[in-house]
Amino acid sequence: MCARRSPPAWLPLLLQAVLLCPALVPAGGESRRPNVVLILTDDQDVSLGGMTPLRKTKALIADLGVTFTNAYVGSALCCPSRASILSGRYPHNHHVVNNTIEGNCSSKAWQKSQEPYTFPALLHSSGYQTFFAGKYLNQYGSEDAGGISHVPPGWSYWFALEKNSKYYNYTLSENGRARNYGQNYSVDYLTDVLANVSLDFLNYKSNNEPFFMMIATPAPHSPWTAAPQYESSFKDVTAPRNSNFNVHGKDKHWLIRQAKTPMSNTSIQFLDNAFRKRWQTLLSVDDLVEKLLKQLQARGELDNTFIFFTSDNGYHTVSPVLNQLSVRGEDNHGLPVTADHKTMESGSSPCQSIKGNSMSLTLKSLYLFGDRG
Ligand SMILES: *[C@@H]1O[C@H](CO)[C@@H](O)[C@H](O)[C@H]1NC(C)=O
Ligand SMILES: *[C@@H]1O[C@H](CO)[C@@H](O)[C@H](O)[C@H]1NC(C)=O
Ligand SMILES: *[C@@H]1O[C@H](CO)[C@@H](O)[C@H](O)[C@H]1NC(C)=O
Ligand SMILES: *[C@@H]1O[C@H](CO)[C@@H](O)[C@H](O)[C@H]1NC(C)=O
Ligand SMILES: *[C@@H]1O[C@H](CO)[C@@H](O)[C@H](O)[C@H]1NC(C)=O
Ligand SMILES: *[C@@H]1O[C@H](CO)[C@@H](O)[C@H](O)[C@H]1NC(C)=O
Repeated sequence: MCARRSPPAWLPLLLQAVLLCPALVPAGGESRRPNVVLILTDDQDVSLGGMTPLRKTKALIADLGVTFTNAYVGSALCCPSRASILSGRYPHNHHVVNNTIEGNCSSKAWQKSQEPYTFPALLHSSGYQTFFAGKYLNQYGSEDAGGISHVPPGWSYWFALEKNSKYYNYTLSENGRARNYGQNYSVDYLTDVLANVSLDFLNYKSNNEPFFMMIATPAPHSPWTAAPQYESSFKDVTAPRNSNFNVHGKDKHWLIRQAKTPMSNTSIQFLDNAFRKRWQTLLSVDDLVEKLLKQLQARGELDNTFIFFTSDNGYHTVSPVLNQLSVRGEDNHGLPVTADHKTMESGSSPCQSIKGNSMSLTLKSLYLFGDRG
């Protein structure tokens, strides 16, 4: 376990450490550079049990990897956090301050000053095939942001959701062309569409260059639309009654004091329902992860692929008012992380521990969990 606080720029730094490790180039040097897969969920908490529904993900990635339990996001809000993940910069440096165009979310200024230098763009210019599927930045596809035809530089394959999280009735930019989806589960459910286009990419990509994939699911963000087969899962689950639940923060920050306590029964039901539905949507993410790993294995790529699993920020179900706001706090910022135990020894940096282990390329899974945005 790495007990070091990571800056929000942890992901590009970790990737850099991993990709630049001399030990990663096997003797003889004929082997390809490693592939990297980043799975990014939306608003997935870690401290309220957000990983519980992801049984297969835990078995296939976390249990074979290392969890970084002390990593934090730079901002507990979708767009600034995603901009940090992509650019490796803190919000005060990339200038994406909120989820609006005025706040630089997918704005022309972002497109000009940051987007050409995201780590996927840099990987692409160093010879990687790059694949994106899912939610990018909240304002992506807005008219003021160049619309759906804007494909950020450095992506070889681009399947990006127009604007914010949805599960049905949405538009994707498919390499710059708009495609509308309806509400028929078997062809339109977004988490499954992302799984399918990801498998297609693995089938049809070139085998001559390494690849980077970023799969950014809308789940478990609102509107929490579960796949039909999961609509009645977790029937008896309720939001955890932890020590913050339904407690008035009289002596706390003004934002915390906005919450009405005690909550009405309707509010409590709302929270319990939201909590359950969030978990239901994650079951489809778990299926996506399983399909992806099976396909990587079937294509003979698994042993040469780093897999990261994380979220843009956390979430809490302490009060419905606070749920609408981006509150600073452990529930919302915590960002634990994991990597393959065979290659990552506790207390060492990824590079040191990889170097310390000469088998190098059997390392598989770097596994990261995040909190809210
Ligand atoms: C948006 O980004 C540009 C370019 O970095 C910067 O000049 C501007 O101040 C930013 N806007 C906000 C609201 O921070
Ligand atoms: C987002 O940031 C911009 C620039 O600071 C500000 O004008 C706008 O009011 C903010 N919007 C929200 C919803 O916070
Ligand atoms: C999708 O759009 C149709 C037609 O506009 C509408 O009837 C339906 O309620 C929408 N479904 C969802 C899940 O938003
Ligand atoms: C949903 O899509 C499937 C596959 O294309 C099709 O067989 C089915 O008829 C569609 N269902 C509805 C309700 O349109
Ligand atoms: C995904 O692909 C599977 C297998 O081809 C198919 O059965 C399923 O309907 C597809 N799902 C979506 C949402 O396209
Ligand atoms: C709210 O729920 C509690 C516990 O279920 C119950 O005892 C109480 O009567 C309910 N209050 C109202 C106003 O429905």
